[in-house]
Amino acid sequence: MYVVTGVTGHTGSVAAETLLNAKVPVRVVVRDEAKGAQWKARGAEVAVASFEDPASMTRALAGATGAYVLLPPPAWNQAGLAQNRAALTEKLLEALRNAAPAHTVFLSSVGAQHADKTGPIKTLHPIENALRASGHRATFLRAAFFMENWGGSLAGALESGSLYYGLVANKKIPQVATRDIGTTAAKALLEPHASGVRVIELGGPEELSLEDTAAIMSKVSGKPVKAVTVPTEAFVATLEGMGASKDLAGWYGEMMTGINADLVAWEGKGAQHVRGSTTLETVLRAMLAK
Ligand SMILES: NC(=O)c1ccc[n+]([C@@H]2O[C@H](COP(=O)([O-])OP(=O)(O)OC[C@H]3O[C@@H](n4cnc5c(N)ncnc54)[C@H](OP(=O)(O)O)[C@@H]3O)[C@@H](O)[C@H]2O)c1
Repeated sequence: MYVVTGVTGHTGSVAAETLLNAKVPVRVVVRDEAKGAQWKARGAEVAVASFEDPASMTRALAGATGAYVLLPPPAWNQAGLAQNRAALTEKLLEALRNAAPAHTVFLSSVGAQHADKTGPIKTLHPIENALRASGHRATFLRAAFFMENWGGSLAGALESGSLYYGLVANKKIPQVATRDIGTTAAKALLEPHASGVRVIELGGPEELSLEDTAAIMSKVSGKPVKAVTVPTEAFVATLEGMGASKDLAGWYGEMMTGINADLVAWEGKGAQHVRGSTTLETVLRAMLAK
């Protein structure tokens, strides 16, 4: 039985769909039973559970040949972020310890090898460490910057003609489509390694800078868009102005600094490097079509 958490989200939905297409038994995990109906109709088992409730998640993960697990993102206005993340992490690890899936594919991130200075990415580091220490079989799927992150900037960029972001304008960074994360997660579940930890570093077809991103936005929309680097302090203040908690905005600022300084970067060191095939142009065109 393959268990998929986060199935209503970007990556979990694709992982579950790919596993169902491979005709293997699938159990999807939802918090709201109604959201499981479409998966049930496609032949999946549905478990109702939350990472906030380790007993329910232990039941959902029990007996798994393989499990796809992610740390759900915090609320945009989450205060006390470090404590909130630490508490959720402990509950997630409790469920994994108790259920002990034969193989866990954990959605991690580029830069998760570092304990600090990476913003929200630093919350994934202790989970990697705990999984490694458990001796259980695990795959760390370290994904690049999601192409879908641009969804929050696209409309404003087309309207104003400027794509404002905290990245150095010509710095090329790996970016990946969430569809490619979901299919890679399913593949990792279906093709497990023998034992211990495997690290997969997953990027897209090519590295892209803020300038490249603005140019692709221009191409798909037919409107001029130029890249504008926002200094970190102003970037943080803008996020707060958009309702982000002080903590979360600060972490995003830290992440921008970490990316610009090459700290948030592939570790290498024996990791398997994989490239997804979905281009940013495809992702942006799909966003515009909605
Ligand atoms: N953005 C990036 O650039 C980036 C890069 C690398 C890694 N990541 C990682 O990717 C993760 C997000 O993955 P995604 O985009 O696939 O997710 P997503 O689309 O944001 O969806 C989150 C999923 O988690 C579920 N969820 C929320 N709270 C839950 C809880 N308490 N218990 C169980 N399930 C819960 C949601 O279900 P409901 O329908 O119940 O809400 C939803 O299915 C981030 O947390 C981060 O760790 C992000």
